Amino acid sequence: MAKKMTDLIRGFFDPIEEDDDNTEFKLPLDDSGKLHRPMGTVRRVQHSFKTMKNRRNEAALPAVLPLDDESRALLEIAKAVRDKAYAKYSGFSVGAALVAESGQVYLGVNIENASYPAGICAERAAFCSAISAGEQHFSAIAICGGDDRVPCYPCGICRQVMAEFCTPSFPVILADGVYPLASLMPHAFSM
Ligand code: THU
Repeated sequence: MAKKMTDLIRGFFDPIEEDDDNTEFKLPLDDSGKLHRPMGTVRRVQHSFKTMKNRRNEAALPAVLPLDDESRALLEIAKAVRDKAYAKYSGFSVGAALVAESGQVYLGVNIENASYPAGICAERAAFCSAISAGEQHFSAIAICGGDDRVPCYPCGICRQVMAEFCTPSFPVILADGVYPLASLMPHAFSM
């Protein structure tokens, strides 16, 4: 893999020292400090990355399931609690309804702050509430934010939090279907 990458960038960067295991490159800068390389090379590199990306996209991801009555009901709960959001700065209110394996439903809304990073998303607020109540096993979450007809995908941090507590098949219920967690977070970090 490392060797292949080296081949890919050879011709784009000027090698400083080259040996089989360790090749260092310096940027090809012209006298004014601008990056200088014929466009052909740039296109070749771009094409290689595009091909890699396409191959990745072909890998099978778990299917998104259609909404059923139960998931629609949970979405309605997420929609109802959304009114309690404190979204003073973005104006974008989000509601989340998280079902624990105990059957209890925990609610969450986004709570923003004048110090922006201190805000929390609706999904994590729901997880905080559930875990504080002693729950650690979950059956599903419904999320509702913005336009009701458009799925409000959970942000990356919330996906990572879900991955901490939930299985890859954990149903994430959005406006247009039920997404298995693994389809939203295929390579979650774990320790
Ligand atoms: N937000 C959520 O609560 N959940 C999401 O999945 C995405 C974003 C909130 C965070 C912030 O308060 C507002 O939406 C705009 O980003």
